[in-house]
Amino acid sequence: MAFTRGDADKARVLVASNRGPVSYQVGEDGALHARRGGGGLVSGLSAIGSDAGSVWVCAALGDGDRAAVRRADGGLLPAEDTGGQRVRMLDIDASVHAEAYNGIANSVLWFVHHMLYQTPLEPVFDAEFRRQWGSYEAYNRAFAEALAEEAAEGAAVLIQDYHLALAPRMLRRLRPDLRIGHFSHTPWAPPDYFRLLPDDIAAELLGGILGADRAAFLTQRWADAFTACCHAVLGPSIPSGTRIGVHGLGADADFLRERAHRPDVDERMALLREEIGPGRKAIVRVDRTELSKNIVRGLLAYEQLLADHPEWREKVVHVAFAYPSRQDLAVYRDYTAEVRRVAQEINERYGVPGWTPVVLHVKDDFARSLAAYRLADVALVNPIRDGMNLVAKEVPVVSDAGCALVLSREAGAYEELGDDAFVVNPYDIAGTARALHEALTLPGGERAERSKRLAAAATALPPAQWFLDQLGALEAS
Ligand code: G6P
Repeated sequence: MAFTRGDADKARVLVASNRGPVSYQVGEDGALHARRGGGGLVSGLSAIGSDAGSVWVCAALGDGDRAAVRRADGGLLPAEDTGGQRVRMLDIDASVHAEAYNGIANSVLWFVHHMLYQTPLEPVFDAEFRRQWGSYEAYNRAFAEALAEEAAEGAAVLIQDYHLALAPRMLRRLRPDLRIGHFSHTPWAPPDYFRLLPDDIAAELLGGILGADRAAFLTQRWADAFTACCHAVLGPSIPSGTRIGVHGLGADADFLRERAHRPDVDERMALLREEIGPGRKAIVRVDRTELSKNIVRGLLAYEQLLADHPEWREKVVHVAFAYPSRQDLAVYRDYTAEVRRVAQEINERYGVPGWTPVVLHVKDDFARSLAAYRLADVALVNPIRDGMNLVAKEVPVVSDAGCALVLSREAGAYEELGDDAFVVNPYDIAGTARALHEALTLPGGERAERSKRLAAAATALPPAQWFLDQLGALEAS
């Protein structure tokens, strides 16, 4: 192994995830620029702290990251780039990483857990898939070896997500002394769908996670699906040692409220108000441009609303932020193009001078997302399937006047927010249009009340507590 540390330097608490808390870009001047990531995962895992007793192991994701690893001291990134956290970034061979991440994790496992296959997008388990699977194993092994090397005797290791389903068992074999947890941030597919996977691969994935002392999920529904898959695929041979847990990651209210009232957000609010136009209502959505987020059906539902309720024309704007994601994959690039095309068609069909029905932004801008959250009258969150969906939790927390939430029953957040949301079947475009109409017509007082209850439910388990709960449960297991 490339780096070895003395025992005193080894970590008591470790996390492992494909995407780490920091990424690097090579600037025009050739210098490396570090950028802290955002989102619930990073803020939750950041509760790992910055003392010498913890390490976050992640993968180098691009040329900037790889250059940063090469100049890193003993494999650890400079503290000034990470906010003091000890971060070890793994420079896994670029083609191995691409096959593991794009090929297996994002093109197969993501599709299985989100049940996204549909003709002509069918699963293909051919020789190329088998080669990519070899890379997925190698990638998981690289994590397991780095964790084995960094961990002190008896340390706790929290391994994150579908990228790293094999790592728990690999690590267990290298270091039987460790407490190992695995956390899934996605839904888990029900057995009939999970068994699309070749039998040996399905068994490897489940067995990999069962190598952990605890396997945890965002909702009871995903935890039950995992258990059902174990019974269907592994039958009586399930190892009994693994405990199953549920930790519903919540929104970080303190961080969001403070961040949403900084001057850059105020500036963007002024710009957005101009784009929306005076006195109009805003239906807001903020997503990665991701097939599971169901952005196109959301646009079609909005179009249906304008068709069924002409009284809303010129009175409402759909503010849709669809940020680039996984653009190495053709299916994501095609989806991005479709989102743009459908938004444009609606604008051509219904737009009039002074009113653009859909305001679509595709450049990632966190301050502008917060500005839209503050202005939202209605938040539209209609994923086909989603592990949790933090946008559904964040908008009510940040919204200035309280917002109504149109929420898919297939998002994990539904379990906590369903009572005060307008709940939709994500495939039902006409039903979603009706829910948008009801949400828009909700009287102000009731909207504010519901929004308050949504915000309370959304913040029940803030990210730092989510992390500490998992750690506590792992150490007690
Ligand atoms: C989901 C996954 C995360 C992932 C994120 C962004 O939330 O659960 O593990 O980091 O999507 O996807 P990306 O492929 O850009 O890391």
